Order: sequence, then C-alpha cells, then structure tokens
Amino acid sequence: MAELNVTPWEVSGELNDESYNRLVKKFGVDLISDALLERINMIAKGKLHPFLKKKIFFAHRELNLILDDYEKGNPFYLYTGRGPSGKMHIGHLLPFTFTLWLQRTFNAHLLIQLTDDEKFLVKDTSKKEIAGFTNENVIDILSLGFDPKKTHVISDYQQAKTLYYYATDVAKHVTVSTIKAVFGMTDSDNIGKLFFPAMQIVPAFLLPAITGKKMRCLIPYAIDQDPYFRVARDVLPKLGYYKPSSIISKFLPALQGNSAKMSSSKAESAIFLDDSRETVRKKLMKYAYSGGRDTAEEQRKHGANPDIDFSFLEYSFLEEDQKKVDEIYRKYKSGDILSGEMKAIAADKISDFLEGIRERRERIKENLNDYMFDERKLNF
Ligand code: TYM
Repeated sequence: MAELNVTPWEVSGELNDESYNRLVKKFGVDLISDALLERINMIAKGKLHPFLKKKIFFAHRELNLILDDYEKGNPFYLYTGRGPSGKMHIGHLLPFTFTLWLQRTFNAHLLIQLTDDEKFLVKDTSKKEIAGFTNENVIDILSLGFDPKKTHVISDYQQAKTLYYYATDVAKHVTVSTIKAVFGMTDSDNIGKLFFPAMQIVPAFLLPAITGKKMRCLIPYAIDQDPYFRVARDVLPKLGYYKPSSIISKFLPALQGNSAKMSSSKAESAIFLDDSRETVRKKLMKYAYSGGRDTAEEQRKHGANPDIDFSFLEYSFLEEDQKKVDEIYRKYKSGDILSGEMKAIAADKISDFLEGIRERRERIKENLNDYMFDERKLNF
C-alpha cells in the first residue's frame, strides 16, 4: 500500500486510518480524544459540528489551551487561508465551513490569508491570473456566510507592507536547514519559496502584534499545512507570543476514492464550485467511488457499504439533519437504495449547496470592502 506522503505542495499515497495515524506520529500532533470532544460539545451546547463527530477534524495542537482561555473569558482569534492558484473545489471548502462554525460558536475574530505570493513562487502561473483567482476565491469563501465585522481578509501582495515587516521577525529565527528539513526543499528551489513560510506564519501572531493584546490563535487546516505551524510553534515564543494552536482535518478524497485527495490539478477528481447541476450529476455517475455491489440484484440482497462510498460521504457532510443522514445510511446499507440512487441524492444535495453559494456571491461582491483587512477595524 502506498505510504501517505504529505507536504504543502504535494500529497500522495493512500488516505486511510492507518496512514493518518502514521502521519500524526510523524508530525507530532495529538488525536482529538473523546474527552476533548465532550468538552467542545459542552461549550457548543450539544451542537457539535458533524466534522468533529465524524472525526474529519481529527487532530490538534493544544486545543485545550484555547478552550481554557475561552472559558475564562479571554478572547482568542481564528486564522485560516487559501492559496489562490485556480478554481476552488468542494474539498477546499471543508476547512472553511468548519471555520465558519468555529466563528459562530466562539464569536471569534478571523483572519483569512490569501497566499498569492506563494502561488506565484511555486506554480507556473502569471501574477495576473493569480490576481483573478484571488478575487474569485475570496468571494467563494465569504459566500459561506462569515461575519463582516469579525472577518479580515489579507492578500499577501496587498498587505505586503504589514506582513513583510513581521515576516522578517520570523525569518531571523528560522535557518535554511530547518526549512529544508521541514518542507523537503532542496538547493534547486528558488529563494522566494524558502522565505515564504515566514509570510504564512505572520497571521498566527498578527492580531496580538498590532493590538498589543496577548491572545491565542487557533488555526484550522487540512494536515498538509501542518509544517508551517510546526515552525511557528518554535519561533513565536521567541518573539514573545503564544504558540499557535491547531485543529486539523483529513482530506476530502478524490471522487475516485481514498487513493488520492480531491485536487484541482486532476480535474476529474474534483467537483468545482462553478460546476453546473448537470456536470455534478455526470461526474458523480461516471467517477464517484461506490460502496455498492456489482449488480442491482446483489445490492438489493446484500446492501452497500456506505462507509467507503464517496456520494454518501459528501451527502453526510452537507445534510444538516442527522436523522435524514441516518435514514439514508440504513437504507443504503440494507439494499433499499441502489448506487445510482445514492449518487442522484448526493448530486442534488451538492448542487443545492453550490447554488446557494452562487446566489450569495452577488451580495458579497458588492460588499467586498467590508471584509478586507484594515488595522482600524481591529479596535478591540
Ligand atoms: P490551499 O489553497 O492548498 O488549501 C486551502 C485549504 O484547504 C485544505 N485542503 C483540503 N481540505 C480537505 N480536502 C482536500 N482535498 C483539501 N485540499 C486542500 C488545505 O489544507 C487548506 O486548509 N498555503 C495555503 C493557504 C494558507 C493557509 C493558511 C491554509 C495560508 N495560511 C492557514 C490554512 C491555514 C494553501 O495553499 O492552501
């Protein structure tokens, strides 16, 4: 079986419990225990997010310290981001939908970093194209429903002055050999790529740096982004800030199943946010990995395995009514629902969700400025 190999720029190998567990050990993160889950559940007044229940968000770094602060009434803030190298797919939304829940549950400020500089340095894409994706991706993300008063979007090029000022503090404490070891870079990588991690670390202390108020930062991301924050945890205490805490997810797999993550570089592996109802349906029918049997007759007799079925997985992410999810699970497993029907149910759910985003985009476009990072908005 192919070992799961993960860097921020390349993910290969099988996505299964065993390989995630190996990664957890290798990266030195902690699994979210049932006790920790129960603690979050209490704070969320029993409305635990399904990604936590299903252990999609499965690991963390010092999440307990964030909860301690919250319970004492000390504010913390959230930070997450996106590298705008192309159209977004539904996998990219996973950390953002979860972050939205965190913002609402904890009433927290949120920084969203768009690493346009990173994508220019690591991809063969022009600055003009990247600027276009930055703009479109931000609108997609904000369409999920973030609070304009508490959400601050930073694009690295646009906020270069502020970010670079603090990035040099980080860079002074990070050696070339650390970056090579943590990110797997080599002597033939360009020097911009070597420096870039300093830029992605800055938002993990930007609010305390600007406001002068000591506060913790919680960073949600899929596990490929962990290397940055491992370095951040070494450096930030040296600058007088708290180590950032993390809450870490697994990947949404490719349509074809667990042998790869959903990725925009493999178009047939992904459902993009601008895919039409017809395209979503066709992609699921043609590519979606099914836990069903070879023939309808066999499936009616023996039932499907929903636990490995892409369409069921995605449906269960999007359907908020847990009773409905349980019902579909039971029917699919018992053979009452066939694979084609499961795909159709999931396709409808995904398209309804995407249509909601497309409708809200128009309003966001008109009010984009309300969400942009502005030091004057940080008056807390
Ligand atoms: P990017 O644009 O590659 O990915 C954006 C976010 O989506 C996560 N992700 C996925 N989650 C679930 N399933 C998938 N198949 C999948 N593919 C990607 C990523 O882990 C990420 O959380 N350098 C970053 C941008 C960034 C950032 C951050 C991300 C800047 N600061 C702080 C997280 C936290 C990037 O290129 O992400």
